Amino acid sequence: MASKAKAIAAKSAKSKAAARKYKMYINGEFVEARSGKVFPVINPSTEEVIAEVPEADENDVNRAVAAAKAAFNSGAWPQTTAQDRGRILFRLAERIRKEAAHLADLECRNSGKPIVEAEYDIADAATCFEYYGGMATKVLGHVNPVPDNALSLSLREPIGIAAQIIPWNYPLLMAAWKLAPAIAAGCTCILKPAEQTPLTALEFAGYLTEAGLPPGVANIITGFGEGAGAPLVKHPDVNKVAFTGSGAVGKAIVKMAADTLKRVTLELGGKSPNIFFADADFEAAIDGALFGVFINQGEVCSAGSRILVEKPIYSKFVDAMSAKAKKIRLGPPLERETKMGPLVSKEQFDRVSAYQEIGKKEAKLAAGGGRPSSMKHGYYVEPTIFYDVDNSARIAREEIFGPVATVIPFTNEADAIKIANDTPYGLAAAVWSRDIFKAFRVVKALRAGIVWVNHMQPTYVEAPWGGYKQSGFGRELGPWGIEEYLETKQVHINLNEQPIGWY
Ligand code: NAI
Ligand code: MG
Repeated sequence: MASKAKAIAAKSAKSKAAARKYKMYINGEFVEARSGKVFPVINPSTEEVIAEVPEADENDVNRAVAAAKAAFNSGAWPQTTAQDRGRILFRLAERIRKEAAHLADLECRNSGKPIVEAEYDIADAATCFEYYGGMATKVLGHVNPVPDNALSLSLREPIGIAAQIIPWNYPLLMAAWKLAPAIAAGCTCILKPAEQTPLTALEFAGYLTEAGLPPGVANIITGFGEGAGAPLVKHPDVNKVAFTGSGAVGKAIVKMAADTLKRVTLELGGKSPNIFFADADFEAAIDGALFGVFINQGEVCSAGSRILVEKPIYSKFVDAMSAKAKKIRLGPPLERETKMGPLVSKEQFDRVSAYQEIGKKEAKLAAGGGRPSSMKHGYYVEPTIFYDVDNSARIAREEIFGPVATVIPFTNEADAIKIANDTPYGLAAAVWSRDIFKAFRVVKALRAGIVWVNHMQPTYVEAPWGGYKQSGFGRELGPWGIEEYLETKQVHINLNEQPIGWY
């Protein structure tokens, strides 16, 4: 016992020494929380504390919103041209690419995702800044064809001060999806990263001043949902809230935003169907099913977590998928061969483990089902496959957000569509078939914001991202993404020199 206590003391002393102290970024400066409070950031693979960050509360939120408000109304920002904003975004993209190795390493340590995936994420974040750098100068107004001697214009203007609250599964990439279109549009923002994964966003904050962004335009505050997220959403000077995360918090945000009628966009994940017809390429199908649900440890809002398989291939499919799942290389995320790291946190580990137990009562287990015995510490979960799942089971209805697949048989096209749409969610879906006519009929019948055919998960900054039904509203990425940060102003210029002449 004494030696165990000693070992724990030594471990925490070691992690304390290694823990870097970060500050948050308000009004162009790195600052502590007003309260002086900090909280630890954990490496989910080693369970060690790797950093300490400020714990923002309402006072810090007020300070950040005041900075964003001042920057929106006066100083350099309202005078910048679209070209200026575009160039700032290009410089940010360039800097991210320059620091890519460091950022990927940090993202990997903080989130637990495999290093190779972290490298893709960082590259995608840079691409997002480039894309909206180009888009800044492509925001167009209109001349409205009114039946009078007048010039009627529609002007596009920034929506104002944006609160942006993001999750932990793609930390820097989600920051990019939020900040890039907002800056391109001329908004000012307060971004709150998830409490589990604030490090790459804080690192990125250090690039903003050098890229030429005036103080107060982008503020990055660290803290928890209740303490920092909620006061940010409620703040009367905030005009728009952009949120990615759980459905429960999404619904709470809509209610909190109602009092001041803020614009809200929500991306709330789902229970996305991945549909396999018997005529699909079998090898590609097995790969697609695994990739769809296990990439990023299954911590993906669009995870293909309901795998619908047509009866003639069902048994063979379950066998082949399970055999391959058992061979997925789980391990330390910094090793390049690793295909699956730990879940992000103890809390997420507990949540996913609980669903594994629920699944064992609701369906049959084909692979995984627990914690891998090979890993001595870290929040690792085995890739888990349940089959003969009824679509009414909890594991088929509730978002698990971990590597847990539910395989459901179907009899024909109509049955597949019925099961696929029988969910409160509607973020994504995929269809696998060699019959393009059938595949496209299914595409049209699916109530989901993103549908892939013979693939699952490829995501491009050029294409719209967002859900139907309870997966949220609004769209990110592409021209849709910047729309959510713009207002439309109608301007009427009278070209008649005579008085109106009514009275
Ligand atoms: P969450 O929705 O609680 O957290 C996401 C973000 O919202 C974090 O930045 C958090 O600090 C903030 N937040 C939490 N409560 C808030 C409040 N009352 N007001 C304002 N902001 C608040 O998600 P959590 O707890 O990390 O994960 C729970 C489940 O949510 C997951 O198991 C998964 O099902 C889902 N989720 C979905 C995501 C998606 O991409 N759509 C991402 C992360 C989680
Ligand atoms: Mg939560």
